[in-house]
Amino acid sequence: MSARAPLSPNPSPPGGEGSALDAASPPPAGGRDRERGSTATTPPLLEVRGLTKHFPIRAGAIVEREVARVRAVDDVSFTVARGETLGLVGESGCGKSTTGRLVLRLIEPTAGTILFDGEDVTGLEGAALRRLRRSMQIVFQDPYGALNPRMTVEEIVVEPLVVQGGTTRADMGREARRLMDLVGLPAAHVTRHPHEFSGGQRQRIGIARAIACRPRFVVCDEAVSALDVSVQAQIVNLLQDLQKELGLSYLFIAHDLAVVRHISDRVAVMYLGNLVEVADKRTLYTAPRHPYPQALLAAVPVAHPRLRRTRPRLTGEVPSPLDPPPGCRFHRRCSLAEDVCRTEVPALRDLAPGHAVACHFAERTGGPPPAAA
Ligand SMILES: Nc1ncnc2c1ncn2[C@@H]1O[C@H](COP(=O)(O)OP(=O)(O)OP(=O)(O)O)[C@@H](O)[C@H]1O
Ligand code: SF4
Ligand SMILES: [Mg+2]
Repeated sequence: MSARAPLSPNPSPPGGEGSALDAASPPPAGGRDRERGSTATTPPLLEVRGLTKHFPIRAGAIVEREVARVRAVDDVSFTVARGETLGLVGESGCGKSTTGRLVLRLIEPTAGTILFDGEDVTGLEGAALRRLRRSMQIVFQDPYGALNPRMTVEEIVVEPLVVQGGTTRADMGREARRLMDLVGLPAAHVTRHPHEFSGGQRQRIGIARAIACRPRFVVCDEAVSALDVSVQAQIVNLLQDLQKELGLSYLFIAHDLAVVRHISDRVAVMYLGNLVEVADKRTLYTAPRHPYPQALLAAVPVAHPRLRRTRPRLTGEVPSPLDPPPGCRFHRRCSLAEDVCRTEVPALRDLAPGHAVACHFAERTGGPPPAAA
């Protein structure tokens, strides 16, 4: 595994694009059809259209009936290209994990379509769904909670193969050792239990388990959020190495804008169940056009004392997804809101190839980046 520069705690200021952090990022791997937004000419590995999840809230002493709906994800559309990392960011409760679970078919969508490698997988069941699960895996935030403490590491990492069937005991032992090697752990430690490893090592075990079935697509749901900064950098580097070696595509879900910037090719920003901006990371971090990501970036501490902020900070609480505001869901927190924002839902529309924004006034929200000198 190649050593890479550690992560910076914050996104670099404007003009910082091309900084040491980004110079340390691997160039696009040769031979992979890396898509940049809608400019791609090859079909994406994953495409979701109008993905929606409303969780019903039921109540009633004798007969339960639906009394409300949590609108966790509403009409979300995006693509992930082969070998690409799409970052997914947004405040807590905005629907990131629900989106990841929907894509993996771990929960059923209320509406929408999921296409994987050109095939509509939204309604797959039984053996066909099990086959799909080989290709799509997840790495969770809590490396300890995700691992059964009573199982050995060998049992944990080969469990997905056991579920799929058709693997002999000897194959599994060999496979467990190969996976340990791939994630940078001593193969001899396969007989140990999760409590005998550090947090970072446990996340490596979680990653080994996720790649056991040789998937093509992995959802990383806050996969480094619980780790110390230095360990975060090692795990991010491991994910990038594995992406190059195995040709993986990632949906990388995280709160930390710096980590997302480091690992992602493109970034999608979510607010209260909707996507509000999708762009390549350079555009998103230096010239965001939606007031929400502008405010999110303005909230990131800037190390340089001479840098001052020209964009508004985020104020107020995220409204409840039980009763989201009409029109633009961001309008109660947006300093640019006008009457139309309170009644009409802004569509996610292309401002430029690969740059989509859901704001009625996206054409005039440009100007200096969030932390201009
Ligand atoms: N099974 C469920 N039943 C009812 N509501 C749910 C369920 N799962 C999630 N929700 C709600 O859906 C909304 C989106 O949740 P989700 O976990 O996707 O958010 P998130 O962006 O991943 O948040 P975080 O950053 O805190 O992990 C939240 O309001 C959450 O309470
Ligand atoms: S549509 Fe209106 S309320 Fe929503 S982000 Fe744009 S200006 Fe703000
Ligand atoms: Mg989550």
